Order: sequence, then structure tokens, then C-alpha cells
Amino acid sequence: MKKINEQNPEKDGSSVSKNVSRRDFLSISLKALGGLAAIELGAAGILFLRSRSLSGEFGGIMTIGKIEEFTPGSVVEIEDGNFYLISTEDGGFLAVYRRCPHLGCTVNWMENEQKFLCPCHSATFAKTGDFNNKLVARALDYFPVSFDKGMLKVDTTAPIVREQHLPQHVSYPG
Ligand code: FES
Repeated sequence: MKKINEQNPEKDGSSVSKNVSRRDFLSISLKALGGLAAIELGAAGILFLRSRSLSGEFGGIMTIGKIEEFTPGSVVEIEDGNFYLISTEDGGFLAVYRRCPHLGCTVNWMENEQKFLCPCHSATFAKTGDFNNKLVARALDYFPVSFDKGMLKVDTTAPIVREQHLPQHVSYPG
């Protein structure tokens, strides 16, 4: 193994300064690579959470997946449907439109805070889509959810406008 001339690193052609040993350099490089791998895994995880529908297009009835695929308490973004599918703890489903009722920006689901946040003017909405701010005094619109042979479907023909969230906006299989 080639040894670095610590007195004069330039003498042996190495560009590594005497303050950074080869071992330190390798250690830093490995950490940087580890960090990059973690970022890539995180991005893959986010993409995984952004599901696509099985069939249908936005503007019509979309088949989203098997009912049992959705964990109670979860919020899944259905990217091509422009909505978030909320699975309630008691087995119900609610599909809320991603469009902010203020000026139409796309709201983001904040998993850690368990709320929706609009990046444009910071309006926030509860997990049910209910507004919890003064800027936008109405809930996120929603789409009807139905069930057919164990499959979950969402009718995205037209979002339903609502003042506030009500229990009857949640659909239950069977
Ligand atoms: S567009 Fe969402 S808060 Fe203004």
C-alpha cells in the first residue's frame, strides 16, 4: 500500500494534505455515500406512498385497490386521482380533493403533524379535511367512495363542496 509522505505530501504526488489522512478521507467518503443512499431510500419511500389507481382516470370512476390494502388510520395520496384516500380508524374511507379551496394550490399531507398544509398561504386542514384556520372557512372538497367485489372505487367526476366535515361524508364497505 502506498504511504503518504506526511512531511511533504506534494513530493509523492499526493494531493491529500497532511491534515487529512487517507483513512480520514475514506471514512468521510463512505459517510457521504451512506448519506446519499439514505436520501435515495427516503425518496423511494415517498414515491411508494404516492399510489396510482388501478384503472380509470381523473374525471371519472377510478378503481383504487383492494379494500384490505389500506391500513386504518392511514392517509395515502392517489397521485393520478388528485386526492388523498383517508382510511378511518373504524374502517371507513374518505377521499378528499388535493385542491385548496382558497386559491387552488395542491395541499400536502404532513404525516408527523397529522394535518394537511397548503404551501401557498399556509392554510391547514384536519385529517378529515375540515378547515382549522381563518383563511379558508370551509373543508377540503371530497369525492364519493364506493365498494364493488372487495375493490375500492372513487368517483372523481365532480368534487363535492362542503362547509365542514360531517360523519356522513365517510363511506363504509358492506
Ligand atoms: S391557496 Fe391554499 S391557502 Fe391560499
